[in-house]
Amino acid sequence: MKILFVGDIVGRPGRDALEGLLPGLRAELGIDVCIANGENVADGIGITPRLADHLLRSGVDAITLGNHTWRRDGIADYLASSTQVVRPANLSATTPGRGLAIVESADGTPVAVVNVLGSLWLEPAGSMWEVIDGLVEEARRSTPVVVVDVHAEATSEKIALSTWLDGRVTAVVGTHTHVQTSDGRVLAGGTAAITDVGMTGPHDSVLGVVSELAIRRMRTGMPVRFETASGGVRLEGAVITCDPETGRATAIEAVRLPWP
Ligand code: FE2
Repeated sequence: MKILFVGDIVGRPGRDALEGLLPGLRAELGIDVCIANGENVADGIGITPRLADHLLRSGVDAITLGNHTWRRDGIADYLASSTQVVRPANLSATTPGRGLAIVESADGTPVAVVNVLGSLWLEPAGSMWEVIDGLVEEARRSTPVVVVDVHAEATSEKIALSTWLDGRVTAVVGTHTHVQTSDGRVLAGGTAAITDVGMTGPHDSVLGVVSELAIRRMRTGMPVRFETASGGVRLEGAVITCDPETGRATAIEAVRLPWP
C-alpha cells in the first residue's frame, strides 16, 4: 500500500499545485490514499469549510491541521461533523473536532490519521505525550495502518515521537516548519519517519510569505500584514510504502515537484 502525505499547502499557489499535480501523481506512483496538511490553505493562515471540501474533491482523502486551526469562520462547526478533517488532538477538549479519523484507501482498506501539536512555541492545551498512546490504541482497534502528523516546531520533539511510536504506527510525519528534511527513514520497528515533509506552495519566500514583508516584521518588530508569495511553487511531501496487513512500513521517499 502506498500513502502520499502532502506537506503544508500554502494559499492559492499551494492549492493550484496540489490540484494540478495530484491526479497524475496518484496514477503514476499508484497512490492508495492521500493525506495533506491543510492548516495554511486559506491565504496562508487557517482553513475554511469551502476550502476543506475543495481539497477533498481534488483527491485528498484526509486533512490534518495545526496551530492555525481556529483562524477562520465556520471551521469549528465544520470540524464537529467532519469524518475526514482532523485537528490536533491536544487542543482544548472543550472545542469541536477530533485528532483521529479513519478514512478508506482506494481498495477500501481503513487508514487511521492522527494529528498532534508539539509544545515549543505552539502552546497546545495539553502535552501530546498525554494523548498519543490512547489515540494510537484506539486507531489500532480499527486498522494496523496508522499515520501520525506531528505538527511541531522542534526537530527534537518530532524525532522523539517517532522513536516512541516505532513499531506501533506506520508513519510519523512532521509538519509545520515548511522546510523538507532529508532524514526520511524506516525505524527498526517498522515505522517510517521524516522530521518535516516540507511545503506545498511558493518557495521564493520566507516559509510561504512574501519575503520583503516577513523581513520587515523581523527587522522592525512592528506589525506587518503578511501576504502569500507566488514564485518557486513546489509540491512537497513523502510517499510511504507499507504492508496493509501489518501496518509496517518498508520505505519512505521524499517528494519535491515543481509547478507548473
Ligand atoms: Fe503550523
